[in-house]
Amino acid sequence: MKDSIFHTPDLLTPAYVYDQVSIVNVLDKLVSLKEKTACLPLYSIKSANMVGLLEVIKPYVSGFSCSSLFEAQLAAEVLGEGQTIHITTPGYRPDEWDNIIQLCDFVTLNSTNQWQSMAKKIGAYASCGIRINPELSFVNDERYDPCRPDSKLGMTSEQLAVANSKQELNWESIEGVHIHNNCESTHYGELKQSVEKVMSGLSEFNPKLKWINLGGGYLLNDKTDLTPIEDTVKWLQDEFNVDVYIEPGKAITNGAGYLVSTVIDLIESKNKIIAVLDTTINHLPEVFEYQYQPNVMATSDKGKYEYRLVGCSCLSGDLFGDYYFDKQIEIGSRVVFGNIGAYMQVKANMFNGINLPATYILGREESLELIKQNDYESFRSRV
Ligand SMILES: Cc1ncc(COP(=O)(O)O)c(C=O)c1O
Repeated sequence: MKDSIFHTPDLLTPAYVYDQVSIVNVLDKLVSLKEKTACLPLYSIKSANMVGLLEVIKPYVSGFSCSSLFEAQLAAEVLGEGQTIHITTPGYRPDEWDNIIQLCDFVTLNSTNQWQSMAKKIGAYASCGIRINPELSFVNDERYDPCRPDSKLGMTSEQLAVANSKQELNWESIEGVHIHNNCESTHYGELKQSVEKVMSGLSEFNPKLKWINLGGGYLLNDKTDLTPIEDTVKWLQDEFNVDVYIEPGKAITNGAGYLVSTVIDLIESKNKIIAVLDTTINHLPEVFEYQYQPNVMATSDKGKYEYRLVGCSCLSGDLFGDYYFDKQIEIGSRVVFGNIGAYMQVKANMFNGINLPATYILGREESLELIKQNDYESFRSRV
């Protein structure tokens, strides 16, 4: 892809741009995995959910996985015949329950209470699963570790044993198991280890499973060794005769996403030249949340011109960091952030009333298709 595409004057900024070629490249890897193992790939729409983007992903997956009624409604709007909707959340609400089970094909419950209040109704509409917490932590930051101590995500072996002894779970009607316990990992051996632990723990209950969902939390690049996941899927199919779903999010969208912004002011301070952008950290909220410095195109350690890139909100900490550019930048220059396709657009907010970025799909022929534009109404409808 040529950088010049981000400098076309017709491109409104700030803008999220999703590169279709990059998305399809990852999806092709998932399709190969499916051809090799007969696993069923889903897309976890929480990572990025613009409808035009979902349309790009849809032909390559068996369905979408969701975390709420609204996501399920969106999935139902976009998906076609034969594609399935999967849901799991610690937060099912009684007033949404009827709609959820009518929309979703696979509903995974997260706790004994959820089971007792909701399970009876599911059978008539959807296949019912239970989320198991493998109690194996691979994530250093507890905020992103589904297996942190006293986690709310999935039932632990102890909770399962208690529920079983009190006959609070009916294993006859549990058709599936859901596992998700990683974040940005490239080591599928961790998945294998988790699955083996969970399946060995479940054997005492003698479940009659039809499916297992292995969650997301793993990246997929050219160097990723897929042997452990291939082996795991085959083992699950051979040993337990189950359908195996996987539901990546970030692996599909992150590398494909760019945020294009324009420099709207340059301020010379004592030590720095500060470039004020027409975007804000609120358009890349995970940068602030994780406190990391995002990638910026046309910068390197060897660049001659140093600028502090800042967002245009009133927050003094609304800054992206200090960068060395190869060329001088001016008011009107474009600044492009890379690797921001996951968990940014979905978490972006309108703090200070600053408009949200437009969204484009960068097509195969380097064409830019505007799929979403926001205006005062977007702001007004939230207040
Ligand atoms: C249950 C579940 N499935 C799938 C995903 C997608 O994970 P990722 O985007 O890291 O692949 C998540 C992310 O939080 C999740 O909680």
